[in-house]
This record gives sequence, structure tokens and C-alpha cells, in this order.
Amino acid sequence: MQFPTLIAREVLNRRIAELAVEVGTAFPDRPPCLVTVLEGARRFADELCRRLPGKPGYHSICASSYGPGTVSFGKVELLAPDELPVRNRLVLLIEDIVDTGHTAQRLYSHLEDMGAEEIRLITLLSKPSRREVDVKLDWVGFEIPNEFVIGFGMDVDGKYRELDHVAVYKERNAMVEGS
Ligand code: IMP
Repeated sequence: MQFPTLIAREVLNRRIAELAVEVGTAFPDRPPCLVTVLEGARRFADELCRRLPGKPGYHSICASSYGPGTVSFGKVELLAPDELPVRNRLVLLIEDIVDTGHTAQRLYSHLEDMGAEEIRLITLLSKPSRREVDVKLDWVGFEIPNEFVIGFGMDVDGKYRELDHVAVYKERNAMVEGS
């Protein structure tokens, strides 16, 4: 099934390279502890980190608020290893997409509870029109409209993560009616 492209591979590449330059020069004296929010942000984190000076690795946190389909449960479940080395550290949180903002807010407070001294957040995508809570985003790859997107690590029901670009997800019937 073909979904309309929202952000092409070359455009993603260019923007991630720009972000890597900004992030790579932002913390000259204090290397941050990188924490990636799985599963969705893995692809973005991999591509960002391999462009950062020293190609740093990252730690992971699992977060989920979506059940089947494209509707959020509204309740964020976190699975964070106890040994995440964030105490007294500057943490760079790497997200795929900030939508309502609840996940990012929950992650901020969890990392603070774990003793993080300062937290910065980079997200590939942001949907500002969907925001329900105010969260501070330090770097945003792209602001996008209120569409459910797939590809470049992002999924619906575990599918389409492997797409090399970001596409707009449309349910089958909607695609047939809309075409
Ligand atoms: P929030 O808590 O509403 O900000 O949602 C954040 C999380 O929901 C993201 O990290 C994604 O995992 C998921 N999400 C939100 N919008 C989309 C989307 O359009 N496509 C895929 N996942 C999404």
C-alpha cells in the first residue's frame, strides 16, 4: 500500500545533518548522557548519533501511550532501566515525535526523579496543534500538521517503521474513498 510522502529521505538527511552540527557544538564542556525513547526514535537516534562528534552511543527508555491503531490511550507507560546513568548529569532526550506532549512531560519528571541535573530534548517531529501540555523542546526537526505519520522508525500497530521517509498514514477505506 502506498502512503503519501510527507518528508522525503533527502530532506530528512539534510535536516538531521544540520541538527547534528547544532547539538554537536552545544555542549563543549559537558558531554550529555543520551537517552532515546524506543521504539519510535531509534532510527532518528542512530542517524543523529553517527553524525555527532565521537559517534556517541545512547541509553534507552521504552515509552508507550498508543494501543492498537492511531488513538492514544492518554496514559503513558514507561519502562526505564534502574541503572540509567543520569544522576547529576546533563541528559539529552531523543524523541521521534511530540504530539500531545504527555510522553515528554512524563519523561522529564521521571528523569528528574532519577536525579538528572538538566534535561534537553530533541525531537525529529512536533505536532504543535495537538499539544495538551506545555513542554520545552530544545531542537525540533520539523513541525508537522495534525496527521498520523509512519516511517523512519514510526509505526502503526508495529508496521511501516522500515520506510525510509515519513509518510501520512491513511486507513485503507479512507484511501479508497479519497482517491
Ligand atoms: P504524546 O505523548 O501524545 O506527545 O505522544 C508521543 C508518542 O506517541 C510518540 O513518541 C510516538 O510514539 C507516538 N505518536 C504520536 N503521534 C504519532 C504519529 O503520528 N505516528 C506515530 N507515532 C505517534
